[in-house]
Amino acid sequence: MIEPNIRVFSQPILTEEPLTVLGTIRNFVSNIFVPFQQDYRYWPWRKIGTVIVVCVGSYVLYKYLPGPYRRYYMSSTRNFSLRYNEALHLEKEKLFNELKNVKIREDGRRIQVVEIGAAHGANMPYYPPHLVEVICVEPIRDFETYLTQTLRQNPHVKCRELLVGGAENISVIRDNQVDAVVSTLTLSCCKDIDQALREVRRILKPGGVFLYMENIRSQNIFFASIQYLCSPIYKLLFGISLIRNIPEHIERAHFNGGTTQHIFIAHGIPFLLRPHVSGIARK
Ligand SMILES: C[S@@+](CC[C@H](N)C(=O)[O-])C[C@H]1O[C@@H](n2cnc3c(N)ncnc32)[C@H](O)[C@@H]1O
Repeated sequence: MIEPNIRVFSQPILTEEPLTVLGTIRNFVSNIFVPFQQDYRYWPWRKIGTVIVVCVGSYVLYKYLPGPYRRYYMSSTRNFSLRYNEALHLEKEKLFNELKNVKIREDGRRIQVVEIGAAHGANMPYYPPHLVEVICVEPIRDFETYLTQTLRQNPHVKCRELLVGGAENISVIRDNQVDAVVSTLTLSCCKDIDQALREVRRILKPGGVFLYMENIRSQNIFFASIQYLCSPIYKLLFGISLIRNIPEHIERAHFNGGTTQHIFIAHGIPFLLRPHVSGIARK
């Protein structure tokens, strides 16, 4: 009988003689990782690594170094807002033009507007010229320097004051005091959105308007599931929730004058933030 001539071509997985402790450990590790590496070779490991490093880094900053975290948060908010304004320029223009329809006060003074989550003043270029007086509400005081810079570049807007604090409690503003309230990408950051909306309604005069443009939870269940998974990361990195059903919260806030809003996909921004709502609620 002729013996079959057997030749083995595959590489043995063991790479080193397990003579030393170190060699044994190396063999053990490569036995685990080599098949893994081969199966997942085409995954974007560099990108995954970057995301992990950024997330862990942000968490460490957030937890142990609040000062640097605030600076990082402010600069990422600022950079993102610039990109956001570019991508949603027309939508924003349309929304802010609604301020022109607010009834001018009889005494000829400017329309009183409160902007919640004003940050560095990303919306200042959108206010109609010489028509409004804005009170900014912003919990991070350090934005003041940037806000001052933005106001210098937009002299057509008069900013009356910066109130440092959350929109959930703006008790320094009286009931029925202002003509309009503005919120862009802020309701998704507030700790208590329903309380913030109660405050918005309280300070608005009867007939006053609440203008908002916010990212929302998608109506597509698969997309929404990804948003649920990624929301904690966004919350940590940018302080923003991906999964709020803003239209539902607005409805629950009972703006008696009715609400006009439209839901759309905002192109040109990170895809998990794209489901958007923009609207006007009247008191
Ligand atoms: C994503 S940024 C949006 C900034 C700006 N409105 C824009 O459209 O680019 C959210 C802003 O809301 C602020 N913010 C967070 N929690 C808030 C709260 N409870 N009340 C008011 N503003 C808040 C943040 O500090 C931040 O400046």
